[in-house]
This record gives sequence, structure tokens and C-alpha cells, in this order.
Amino acid sequence: MANENKWGSNIAFVLAMIGSAVGLGNIWRYPYVLYSNGGGAFYIPYLLAIISLAIPFLILEYGVGYNYQSSFTKAIVKLKPKFEFYGWILPVVVFIMTVYYSTIIGWDGIYLFLSFFKGWGADPNTYLNVNLLQATDSLSGAFNFIPFIAVFMLVGWFIVWLISHKNLDEGLGRVCEIFVPLLFVVMLFIVIFSLTLPGASIGLSELFNPDWSLLWHFDIWMAAFGQIFFSLSLGMGAGFTYASYTNDDIDLISSGLKVIFANCAFENFAALGVFSILGYMSLQSGTPVSEIVSQGTTLIFVAYPQVFNILGTIGLVLGPLFFFTVYIAGITSMLSSFEVLSISIQNKFALSRRKATLILCIIGGLASMVYATSAGGYILGIADIFVNNIVVILSVFVECILFAWIFKAERLIDFMNGRSKHFKLGKWWLAHVKYIIPILLLVIWFGGLYELIALKTTDAVIVLIVLALILIISSLIFTLLPAKTKEWFKTEERIK
Ligand code: TRP
Repeated sequence: MANENKWGSNIAFVLAMIGSAVGLGNIWRYPYVLYSNGGGAFYIPYLLAIISLAIPFLILEYGVGYNYQSSFTKAIVKLKPKFEFYGWILPVVVFIMTVYYSTIIGWDGIYLFLSFFKGWGADPNTYLNVNLLQATDSLSGAFNFIPFIAVFMLVGWFIVWLISHKNLDEGLGRVCEIFVPLLFVVMLFIVIFSLTLPGASIGLSELFNPDWSLLWHFDIWMAAFGQIFFSLSLGMGAGFTYASYTNDDIDLISSGLKVIFANCAFENFAALGVFSILGYMSLQSGTPVSEIVSQGTTLIFVAYPQVFNILGTIGLVLGPLFFFTVYIAGITSMLSSFEVLSISIQNKFALSRRKATLILCIIGGLASMVYATSAGGYILGIADIFVNNIVVILSVFVECILFAWIFKAERLIDFMNGRSKHFKLGKWWLAHVKYIIPILLLVIWFGGLYELIALKTTDAVIVLIVLALILIISSLIFTLLPAKTKEWFKTEERIK
């Protein structure tokens, strides 16, 4: 039998990792983060976050994943059986993220459909908030179910099932080999076109105009670290899982650097496109860029449709291309976040890939229906803070302790360096994974907690408690259910 869980080639691994990293975070999140956190000045914390956090941590994640050749949970059980509960917390929280991520992909699917006939009409703002989302900014809309959104979200889950139930190299591997390069090509086209629009330079000078004074504010550092985490899918078991499927001859250091480079190039590139378009719009409407620019949702689902309206027929080509790009970026990321829990339950309950993916897609599809209500956008915002600011950062801290200290990061050095021609790990790397990153994480974590406390409203607290309960109870159930295979406690290590 062909191995269900092995990449066909090392290139498939790198492309799949780029597919995981390049997602909604690059297109709809990054441009706004860059703009609102000091523009050009943002590059200082951003580059530091890449060097001191992303590069060392990604390499650590890859190395340990490669070594255990199994799911995150199974590796934790092997490393410290008492930590199994934690070994489930991370996959479950990533699954919670997958569910809300599927919402935005669903919205994008709707816009992809609408873009063929500019179905958002002359006033995209009203269309989005009043006609489509019927958004409420509290839980009051939780019972107003919107079937149109539900259908598009379920389409996303169906696509994820369609790809992920196949053996790795025939499903995920092949899809990433085709669609990830395509994603870059289409984005290149969109950006080049946007740069040629009149007014593009207005948008760009607004974007990059550096505000150095912000460097003294804690917020922009938090924003940079948060962005790098989210954008690179760091610490969420995605890199770990994908690296566990690699072949023995993989050069993990260079692969990691390629992934980071491609991801960061993509998001900065996307920002050029986004702000050129905003500049064009500013020129057409006489409104300053600062008044047009907005956060993710409004940016791509309001500002963009407005531009496609102004562009006339060209908008009918550019619109579908743009929403299609966002769609692929989203699906290839969702596939990787989905994979983390999927492989964990395959390992513990001796399920085939086909069965595990079917069960999880059904559960995920059903759970995502919470977001197909008027309160969907509201709950999504809170779930995002819960996952990214609270659980993941703390979890990465625990990962550092487990991987760098208990597993002993030193063990990886000879093996990794042996495969890497140009870049070698040494003391600086150890210092990062053992000391610098854990300390940075604690600082970021308290900052995130502060943001959470600022939410305060009763409804937000209810959502947070429900999410925490779901997380704890499902992780407990997974921990307590007996393993269906003796293999659960046996994990071969590849690095001796
Ligand atoms: N990196 C993805 C993006 O930029 C989102 C993401 C964050 C993710 N964490 C993840 C994807 C974990 C897969 C797994 O949109």
C-alpha cells in the first residue's frame, strides 16, 4: 500500500508549507497591519521578529516533527506521557481556528461568485453589512441563521474533504504543487496591474510613510510578532505535521528559509497591490487614503468591490481573479490547519486518512454554522483573539520548553547541519530557542491578555468561556479515550 502520509517529493513539502503560510493573513491582514503600525517604521520590529522568532522557531518545529514522524500529539506522548492533555490542546485550538478561518473563506467564495456580475451593487458597504452579513455587534444575532452564507462555507469544507481524504502525495501534495505557484503568478499579475493605475503612488507613499515615533510603543512590537506568528502558521503544529511527512534526505534549514522568504515576499507584495488600488480610488473619489483604508473584512469586501465597480469591464476580470487568489490562499492554509488534528486522531484511534478526514469535515462543517449567523462576524473576532493572543502564544511557550529543553534542541544540530549546505545552526540558535523566544513569548502573552481584558463586555466573556470549555472538554475526551492501537506509545525516532 502506498504510504498515506508521505510527500512525493521535497518540493511538495516546501510548496505545501508555503501554501500553509500564505493565506488570508497575507492578503487581508498584513497590508492593514503594516499601514496602521508605523508604515515604513514597521519593518524594524517585523524584521526582528523574523530573525529572532520565526527562523529559529520554525527550524525547531521542523526538526522535532521530522524526528518523530508522527502527529504532534503522539510526539508529545512519546516525549512526556503526562503531557498528553497538552498534546491535544494545540490540535484542538488549531481546529477551532480552522472553523472560523473557513468562515472567511466562505465569504470570499460568495464574493468570487458575485464578482462575475458585480452582484454587490453600487454600494458594497451596505451590501456587506446589511444585506449579506446582517451583522450585529453582540450575540443578539446568534439565532438569525443565514443559509446563503452557510452554503458557501460548506462548499469550502467539501473542497477540504475532497483534497485531504486522498493519500498525501495525490491530494494535498499535488494540489499545492499546482496551486501555490499559480497563486504567486496571479498575484504578480494583479499587483503589476495595480501599480500601473493612476494614483498608485499616492497609496504607496501613504503606506510606507514611516512614523518612527511609534517604535517607542509596545503595540507595534506586539503587532509585528503577532503578524509573523499568524502569517507563518508558527507554533500551531502545521510545520511540525508537514515536516513529519518528509523523506529522509530533506534539508530542513533551507526549506524553512525558503518558506519564510516566500511568505514575507508575498505579503509585502500584496500590500503594494492593495495600497496602489487604494491610491487609485483616492484619486478617483477625492477622498484621502487614510479615510478609505480599513481593516481586513472591509478592505477586501468593501474597498475592493468599490474599485472593481469604478474599473468597469476590467473589474469583471480583475475581480474574479482577485477573489480566486484569496480563495486558493485560504484553502491551502485551511488544509494545513485541518491536518494537525486529523493526523492526531488518525494516530491515536487507528483511523484511516479517509475516515478521519470525513469525520472532521462533518464536525467542522457543522460547527462552522455558528458563524453563518448574524453574530458570526462578532464571534469570529473574539475567537481570533482567544486563539491567537491567548492560547497559541502560551502553547508555543510550552513547545519551547518541551522541544528545546526536554527533547534537547542540541540533538538536532548535527543532523540538521549535515543536510544543509549553506546555513548551519550553532550557539545563537540554541540561545534563541532556549532563552530568547520563551522570554519574548511571555512578554507578548501579557500584552495579549491586556487586549483581551479590554474587551470586557458580557457577550465577549460568554464567548470566551464557551470557547475555553470546548477546548478543555474536547481535549480531555481525546486524552481519556483509550488508544485503539498499541502503536500509540511506540514512536520511532529518526534522529538517533
Ligand atoms: N498562515 C495563515 C495565513 O496567513 C493562517 C494560519 C495561522 C494558519 N495559523 C495557521 C494556517 C496554522 C494553518 C495552520 O492566513
